[in-house]
Amino acid sequence: MKLRRSILIGAVAAATVGALTVAPAVATLTAKSPADQSLKALGQRHDLAIGTAVNVDLLSDSTQPQYKEIASSQFSSVTAENAMKWESIEPTKGTYDWTKADAFMKFAKDNHQLVRGHVLVWHNQLPKWLTDGVTAGTITKPQVRELLKKHITDVVSRYKGQIWQWDVVNEAVSDPWETNNVIKLRDDAAKGFWYNNYGPDYIADAFKFARAADPKALLFYNDYNLDAFGSGGADDKSQFVYTMVKDLRAKGVPIDGVGSQGHLSTRYGNFDAIQIADWHNKFAGLGVATAVTEADVRSLMTDALKANNSDAINEAFQAQAANYSALLQGCLASRHCLSFTVWGFDDKNSWTATTDLGSGPGGEALAAIYDATYKPKRALNTLKADLAYTGAPYVLDRIPQRPRR
Ligand code: XIL
Repeated sequence: MKLRRSILIGAVAAATVGALTVAPAVATLTAKSPADQSLKALGQRHDLAIGTAVNVDLLSDSTQPQYKEIASSQFSSVTAENAMKWESIEPTKGTYDWTKADAFMKFAKDNHQLVRGHVLVWHNQLPKWLTDGVTAGTITKPQVRELLKKHITDVVSRYKGQIWQWDVVNEAVSDPWETNNVIKLRDDAAKGFWYNNYGPDYIADAFKFARAADPKALLFYNDYNLDAFGSGGADDKSQFVYTMVKDLRAKGVPIDGVGSQGHLSTRYGNFDAIQIADWHNKFAGLGVATAVTEADVRSLMTDALKANNSDAINEAFQAQAANYSALLQGCLASRHCLSFTVWGFDDKNSWTATTDLGSGPGGEALAAIYDATYKPKRALNTLKADLAYTGAPYVLDRIPQRPRR
């Protein structure tokens, strides 16, 4: 389709040159400035879904109508920021509360948006009855196994046929500094809930339960610090996940994709677009799709940044734009990278404004592509420019992923 269109434009241009013997004004082919086009429209050119995390409560917040306006107009894919997490859906054992998850699904439907389901198995935001029950011994290990199966089956079944990609397992793998530079499945008291109480087979089982409940959804493993490959050795988280996914596929586990969250901070070195492109292409070699699932780029809130000092702001926002750009270009470079999702889009409501990401609550912030008053930041136009100005041969259609049987 895309190919035919460009051939046609080429033919028209050649005919015009022949008749009038003037060079075709190629630039006029794009009528509108990219700044005046939506991210989703610009993404279409690559068949790339551009997504955001959505906070359901803010969709009806009359003090900031811009939130709903931008969420519905700029993005072709959405992820529930919290509404589908276990603690939200089953606050009391055995009693589901689908209110927010259903409202989120309705928003996506009303706006013709694809949905990334998030998240089925994670050690965070579990209901208190589950974690307390396990600690107290009132929920036994065999019961934990039954409960996980029921949770996945019930949630996936409820939205069967409406979810494009499910984050089935999230953040199961350690960081090098946590486990003495040897990456492994998390099995510590704080983050090893599933490993310790279900057993190491929880990952394979989770994918199987999800596939049984919705044969058409693409099933993803999702994690952070997966932006690029590192040393290739024991301390390389991407390498660990690569081997894990390869082994799972070899065993017939229905895993269709790997999500790179993409939570970056301008205080770190980070990776360039070529390293990130290599990451996507290497995973594609395993037969899985990839996605950037939670992109945002925060900055260490120095006194100068807190005081809105223009030197500090310029440095931070330029570094931020470059990092967003590397994440997007890396994805554009692989035809198997299906979507690019930001984790919220404004500095007022970004989770970084309140979360302790290593420097105290809100100590690393300003991570979004719009500022706290919904004014576009340099990062937004950089993403738009990347989508708009990328030229042949790098305008690549996505290759659809088929769910693994
Ligand atoms: C975050 C939400 O943005 C916050 O509102 C919530 O308090 C904590 O979780 N990785 C993930 C996301 O997979 O689910 C997290 O979302 C951010 C990190």
